[in-house]
Amino acid sequence: MKKWFAVIGDPIEHSKSPFMHNTWFQEMGIDAAYIPIHVKRENLREAVAALKLLGASGWNVTIPHKEEIIQYLDELDPMAEKMGAVNTVVRQEDGTLKGYNTDGAGFVHALEEAVGKHKENKVLIIGAGGAGRGIAFALKEYGYKQVDIANRTVSKAESIIQELGSGTALSLEEAEKQLSQYGIVIQATSLGLSTGESGLPISLDGLQKEAIAADIVYNPLMTPFLLEAEKRGAKIVTGLGMFVHQGAIAFKHWLGQYPDTEEMMKRLMEQLK
Ligand code: ATR
Repeated sequence: MKKWFAVIGDPIEHSKSPFMHNTWFQEMGIDAAYIPIHVKRENLREAVAALKLLGASGWNVTIPHKEEIIQYLDELDPMAEKMGAVNTVVRQEDGTLKGYNTDGAGFVHALEEAVGKHKENKVLIIGAGGAGRGIAFALKEYGYKQVDIANRTVSKAESIIQELGSGTALSLEEAEKQLSQYGIVIQATSLGLSTGESGLPISLDGLQKEAIAADIVYNPLMTPFLLEAEKRGAKIVTGLGMFVHQGAIAFKHWLGQYPDTEEMMKRLMEQLK
């Protein structure tokens, strides 16, 4: 029987996931389809029941359901459990549902594909929401030993640092002053995403010339943070890589193969220009 997959969220119409996965199915000769489904917060329980009943092999979960979905799953991967958030669901052979979180690992894969492994560098994550948290756990898991987190609300950075068991929580002002210590700086706030704000979370005056600057936002591809970092000579990693690799890891969980990420990056870049 033909396999089918989905992404559920609200809003969902602008998601690039259907294009990405359907392109991979086509190119890899896999008989499957991937559809976007608009699910409002209050309908999540019914939506999961419907996906099960109608035989979806798996699905992605996006805003606002990443935490709420957990109560409807039978099993959680340890990373998803640590993060308290799921972006990928797999229907296993026996029909039970297992949740994964591929966002943080997707970021690390994208970073290393773009600029190689720099595990000795000191890393600064700006932002302590769901995205910053996932990236912090994944970096630690992949062997990055020095990860600090700065956030407007410092207490949120503190609680992640406590769970990580290493690193320092900083205010945005402190991060600005100490910026020259960091070889990798990651913009993981939602600034500019939903609010229409176009500013930077911190001034980049102190940024090292040879630093690596990464953003989680991929639309626009070049965010104000990346434009400013590039001007100062930093190497740039756009948020598109994180998006493509979170999808590629989900794909691997569903179908056992890692799809071609470099070609997909090029195609999506064309669409976002
Ligand atoms: P996500 O899941 O995408 O990380 P989130 O959980 O809503 O989204 O977190 C948003 C992040 O962006 C937080 O780190 C938030 O800072 P606070 O914890 O202090 O709210 C940060 N953020 C949002 N708007 C910001 C702004 N105008 N200036 C600085 N940080 C901002």
